[in-house]
Amino acid sequence: MRRGSLVALLGIGLIAGGVATAVALVPTWLPVDASRQAGRIDFVFWFVIAICIALFAIVAAAIIYSVLRFQARPDDLEDGPPIHGHTGLEIAWTTIPFVLVTAIAIVSGIVLSRNDAQGANTLRVNVTAQQFTWTFSYPEANNATSPVLFLPEGRSVELYMRSLDVIHAFFVPEFRLNEDIVPGLVTNIHVTPDRVGTYSLICNELCGLGHSLMRTEAVVMPAAAFDKWLAEQKKSNAPTSGSGSTGAAAGLALFTSNSCSSCHTLSAAKASGKIGPDLDKLVSYAKQANTPLAAFITKSIIDPNAYIQPGFPKNTMPQTFGKTLSKSQLSSLVSFLVQSSKKG
Ligand code: CUA
Repeated sequence: MRRGSLVALLGIGLIAGGVATAVALVPTWLPVDASRQAGRIDFVFWFVIAICIALFAIVAAAIIYSVLRFQARPDDLEDGPPIHGHTGLEIAWTTIPFVLVTAIAIVSGIVLSRNDAQGANTLRVNVTAQQFTWTFSYPEANNATSPVLFLPEGRSVELYMRSLDVIHAFFVPEFRLNEDIVPGLVTNIHVTPDRVGTYSLICNELCGLGHSLMRTEAVVMPAAAFDKWLAEQKKSNAPTSGSGSTGAAAGLALFTSNSCSSCHTLSAAKASGKIGPDLDKLVSYAKQANTPLAAFITKSIIDPNAYIQPGFPKNTMPQTFGKTLSKSQLSSLVSFLVQSSKKG
């Protein structure tokens, strides 16, 4: 190969590589990292990106150089020269990808095993996913539940995740962690949050009409603040404290913690969901169903397919509330809905 051709190839390669590097580095592609796992995942990400940029530069240089250098002139009607393989090239394009892919596998393997390794004093949180809501429960606090995932900074956390209906997926971009939640299985994921803040917790598996609304927050608190919060939860959820408060305030709390507002409109709860029927119209729905209001609401919560309001889809409301709500919770929720719909 002539010296001029080499210089041209090298020049094109450097320009292509420079442009690709600028595209990779100048915009901020990734959200902040908020877990120890995230730093390692980002390392794998940039390791692979660097390899891709180098390959892109080589391929772009070869293509652009060939297009310019080996163009047929308009009056050239001859066949090209016959070429029968090139042993050196074949060895190169087999060996180089083999080495690169093996390197990526080794780096990924090390990162995955370190990300899964639990620290001492691991906090366990049970995660329940259902259409279209999240519930987090803390065994260290008498299984107190929360609709938001509260986590301590700097402590190893193990999430045990169950689904009550279809496949969902746990995803917090700032943790760089994603895991499917499959009915009939308990999947788990390990995270060590290391940046205090509030991050989106997203369902990352298409799970039905309310999928896009199935999101909540992961709140990383300083360890001392978290311990205080956990102790309060433990106290208020102590088995001796009885069945908990009842009445409209408890009903509103249940309405919120069960994410009814993701799908329903109800002015008393400042909810504006559009997937399910408008609960400000419960009185007229009960009339259409020819059922007394309280009985209608109770039936619709525990057996949502029994009466479907025209214009709304069947099998969309979870059919699990009969099991997940206690009798007293159910009656608080019903009396709250009866009161607020009579007002409206
Ligand atoms: Cu749950 Cu998408």
